[in-house]
Amino acid sequence: MSRMKNHEIEKLIERAVEAMKNAYAPYSNFRVGAVVVAKDGSIFTGVNVENASYGLTICAERAAIFKAVSEGVREFDTLVVVADTDSPVSPCGACRQVMAEFGNFRVILANIRGEYIETSVSELLPLGFSGDKLKQGKG
Ligand code: THU
Repeated sequence: MSRMKNHEIEKLIERAVEAMKNAYAPYSNFRVGAVVVAKDGSIFTGVNVENASYGLTICAERAAIFKAVSEGVREFDTLVVVADTDSPVSPCGACRQVMAEFGNFRVILANIRGEYIETSVSELLPLGFSGDKLKQGKG
């Protein structure tokens, strides 16, 4: 994992805050924005999208990752997630597992005041389940 400069991280947080405005969160009122930066430099944003059937809600992190994968991009360098929280927002377990599917990459947890924590998928999901043995082909 290459090091990322502070100002680059801050720029990505700004993009995630911008994306956050598109969050569809009429039930919780808790808006989340995410940005995933691929190894090839392409960028995908994501927001949480809630549903009247609560369990169908998708988190911002997974929305961003699924957007990237849908566009043929699977190799990630950095994922940024932001919300209006006192401390930087931390991803749910489901999102951690989805991140781990695509390897170990940098994860920036942030809040809208620009406070952030730099971590990684393997730090967020130590000893996680790996589906390697289940993979039959290239998928
Ligand atoms: N949520 C995310 O989008 N990402 C997180 O890291 C935490 C939770 C969403 C799901 C739901 O729409 C709302 O935040 C409240 O849980």
